[in-house]
Amino acid sequence: MLSVEGLETRYGSVTAVRGLALEVSEGEIVGVLGPNGAGKTTTLLTVMGLLKPSAGRVRFLGREITALSHERVVAAGIGLVPEGRWILNEMTVRENLLMGAYLRRDGDRALRQDLDRLFEIFPILRPRQGQRAGTLSGGEQQMLAIARTLMGRPRLLMLDEPSWGLAPLLVEEIMRVLRHLNEQGTTVLLVEQNARQALGVVRRCYVVELGRVVFSGTPTELRQHSLLTKAYLGGAGRG
Ligand SMILES: Nc1ncnc2c1ncn2[C@@H]1O[C@H](COP(=O)(O)OP(=O)(O)OP(=O)(O)O)[C@@H](O)[C@H]1O
Ligand SMILES: [Mg+2]
Repeated sequence: MLSVEGLETRYGSVTAVRGLALEVSEGEIVGVLGPNGAGKTTTLLTVMGLLKPSAGRVRFLGREITALSHERVVAAGIGLVPEGRWILNEMTVRENLLMGAYLRRDGDRALRQDLDRLFEIFPILRPRQGQRAGTLSGGEQQMLAIARTLMGRPRLLMLDEPSWGLAPLLVEEIMRVLRHLNEQGTTVLLVEQNARQALGVVRRCYVVELGRVVFSGTPTELRQHSLLTKAYLGGAGRG
């Protein structure tokens, strides 16, 4: 479904991603792990058409999307739940959700149906529809950020550290939601520093260091990899 090959992205003289490659098949739930500054966010922003790569290519559903604008990438069916959530605090929960549908042209009725479907997945949001988003708790804001991206009806949902700053029980809730969405047919690419919980839901994962993939395999294979296990499951870092 998604295929990234030889990707290189720079910020001026800093090469943040150097020759990164990864694949996601339709229906999968795949993890990307790696320490601070590894290039995870840069990779997602490049896939989304928000940063221009200096080399490499990105294909989605058999079509080259490397040079497409952000709007076109979203229209092609990829949605990103960004690092840090980017909730619009002054707007209501409902307005935030509708922002996620800004490229859709299928009418109010379809939007209302999707809002209803999302309130079933995220029941805490329904009674808070008219509330300012800034008044929500961190966990509720993360749910809102995911729901907002889902309003764009992505076929591939990419999430950038959704567990950041959340208590373990809320992280579990987020992982449960991701598993549910995946079972309902959404393909998921999950970027996490919080390896332990991410490895509980993903079927396959990549470890990225210094802008490259240094491991690719199943969570079981990763756990057998003693050096990486020490780095990612030994309690180091903020996860
Ligand atoms: N706007 C920017 N300008 C210059 N350098 C940047 C910028 N954003 C990121 N970088 C650098 O690019 C590299 C990769 O950063 P990136 O944010 O992609 O890493 P990350 O894996 O998402 O890290 P984290 O886990 O902290 O979110 C780092 O060396 C970082 O300092
Ligand atoms: Mg990041």
